Amino acid sequence: MRYLGLVFLNLKISVLRILQQIFIFPLYFKHPLLKVDLHYFCYYWNKNPYRICRKYFQKKENKEVLYGDTWPMSAYQFVKSLPIRSEDIVYDVGCGIGRISFWLQIISGCSLIGVEKVPAFVQRAQKIKRKLKNKKIEFVEKDLLNLDYRKASLIYFYSSSFSDETILKLIEKWKRLKKGVRILTTSFSLSEYGAKDYKIVKSYRVSFPWGLCEVYLHEKI
Ligand SMILES: C[S@@+](CC[C@H](N)C(=O)[O-])C[C@H]1O[C@@H](n2cnc3c(N)ncnc32)[C@H](O)[C@@H]1O
Repeated sequence: MRYLGLVFLNLKISVLRILQQIFIFPLYFKHPLLKVDLHYFCYYWNKNPYRICRKYFQKKENKEVLYGDTWPMSAYQFVKSLPIRSEDIVYDVGCGIGRISFWLQIISGCSLIGVEKVPAFVQRAQKIKRKLKNKKIEFVEKDLLNLDYRKASLIYFYSSSFSDETILKLIEKWKRLKKGVRILTTSFSLSEYGAKDYKIVKSYRVSFPWGLCEVYLHEKI
């Protein structure tokens, strides 16, 4: 029964991925995103990021870390609704394979730093960056808890898949952020973890491969 449930879930996500590709198709005519997606397709058509991430953390840290991705259409909506501007310096923390980092950067024209612990993801993203000759994006292989966030004007934090311990440590670290820095979190706001130095500018529902989720835009006060 459990096996059948998994097969059904897999099927559902595959159908949603196809629909997502249809929705984003017109955007390929508006922004140079097709090359990005073709590179990602070539690298990952036979490799599963969920498995790569799970294996890495099991082997290196003996813990379970859940991979998850943002729909490209949701990334497009973030750029328009937050908004992300060309003068922004965006940190995509826990950027995974980096596809969404490229989407955010190319649509907005911002400068973007993608931070990720899994070496295989970072190496591939750096290769794609070199192929595209994109000078406004960088990928660094680093623990997000050991990062210097001084340059950031906006942080995208897919917080849904991080432990309470990591979130509390990040909140402590982000106390040193300058006034006005914006942070976008998924599933919960930082105030639910006791952070007091932010105002919530807006929150709304966004579609992710696993369902609808509330996202919160904070501003450091
Ligand atoms: C949910 S995925 C997010 C993917 C991407 N942000 C997106 O929206 O498509 C979370 C990522 O964070 C990475 N990660 C987990 N702990 C980390 C840490 N301490 N430092 C840097 N990256 C980390 C994982 O390897 C994983 O790729």
